[in-house]
Amino acid sequence: MNITIFGSGYVGLVQAAIFADVGHKVVCMDIDAARVDRLREADVPFFEPGLANLIRNGLDSGLLSFTTDTKAAVQASDYLFICVGTPPTSDGAADMSQVMDVASAIARYMASRKVVITKSTVPVGTTDTVLAHIKRALHDQGRDIPVEAASNPEFLKEGSAVADCQSPDRIVIGTRSPTVLEQMRRMYQAFNRNREKIMAMDPPSAEMTKLTANAMLATKISFMNEMANIAEAVGADIEDVRRGIGADPRIGYQFIYPGCGYGGSCFPKDVRALKYLAGQHDHRAEILTAVHDTNQRQKNKLAERVMARLGYDLTGKTIALWGLSFKPNTDDMREAPSRYVLEGIWSCGGRVKAFDPQAGQACLALYGERDDLVITEHKEDALEGADALVICTEWKAFWSPDFEQVKSLLKQPLIFDGRNLYNPAYLEELGIEYYGIGRGRSLHAAA
Ligand code: UDX
Repeated sequence: MNITIFGSGYVGLVQAAIFADVGHKVVCMDIDAARVDRLREADVPFFEPGLANLIRNGLDSGLLSFTTDTKAAVQASDYLFICVGTPPTSDGAADMSQVMDVASAIARYMASRKVVITKSTVPVGTTDTVLAHIKRALHDQGRDIPVEAASNPEFLKEGSAVADCQSPDRIVIGTRSPTVLEQMRRMYQAFNRNREKIMAMDPPSAEMTKLTANAMLATKISFMNEMANIAEAVGADIEDVRRGIGADPRIGYQFIYPGCGYGGSCFPKDVRALKYLAGQHDHRAEILTAVHDTNQRQKNKLAERVMARLGYDLTGKTIALWGLSFKPNTDDMREAPSRYVLEGIWSCGGRVKAFDPQAGQACLALYGERDDLVITEHKEDALEGADALVICTEWKAFWSPDFEQVKSLLKQPLIFDGRNLYNPAYLEELGIEYYGIGRGRSLHAAA
């Protein structure tokens, strides 16, 4: 089948590569010419395991191509996926301008029947709005060309995006057209072999499914972070509590890891967008407000704890930071908890030596070269002469360090762990002062 994907971000690029991999002819369009030039060389502008290979294969087979030409992109295919960004505005609403720009371009250039599919995470009602917008524009131009629409949200996780897309848990298709449903069933046939994964519904329900999934997962995390804070206060260990509740299959082990807050491009944005949407319909979404507020507090926790222990004047002090990305296996620092640590330390006059297996460059791009930031090449380099170690991301490389070496490199043996990687009793035995999240035993001394 012929497919055009508008937008070469995470969602668009992964989907384009995956579709080309199973034999569809895919054009991926982006207005960013520099990005398109790089992609034509299979040079992926972000780190995502397995993606560059898939893109190289797609380019070599001729099934995947990249363009900046909107008209050609519209006319190349029968199926047009909208995968452009919907960044948050200051009040939490999603900025829909890029989506509507693509819709206008489709209406301007289409010359035959099109199926327009929204894959970007969008406010409920967008797919119907996009379809109405295109139909109105065609009508105004006096052109009578059939156009249909579907919502087909994406549930991929950064760091495992390729695998998630190749083996989806479910394929949600929101359309009012039985023909479109059948066509999309064919499109996804390679991903729907062992059991029926396609869930058909109307477009608003599909859009709401995506927002609700992310809000539910974010709620689990904020709930656990709240429990961690209570555990700290009452002298319990949240890691034991986590294991204790996760064993109940009704609760399960996933997404109940307490930590220094959730980040990334989806949870923070989608929780706020859903809350905003509810507000537009006069509903006060109090749970979502609490989820967001709890997360903001949690992101500040590590920096506050460093200050409570080392003082609010960190002039002349250096903090080692392990992990900059919002989670492992990505170089993405959007809404990353590490940013709150960096900015908190800097605001008290401290200096940071940071190591991340992938996100060092992203950090420099974000903050620029500055005297109070050093990005190191090895995790050990960050420790040398530092007054404490703060851990923000659970990269595999951080799980089993040589603690004797850590001790000898740090000025004093002091660790603030935002991901609960270590056993507090063991570190105490080694003579390391250790603060996890919600671990009663280790937290009495700090705020
Ligand atoms: C998320 C959804 O999982 C995915 O389905 C959706 O399509 C996009 O948003 P992603 O943002 O890539 O994916 O990352 P995810 O693995 O969900 O983690 C999000 C954040 O939550 C990270 O900062 C992570 O560290 C944090 N997290 C996750 C926790 O703090 N505790 C947990 O138990 C799980």
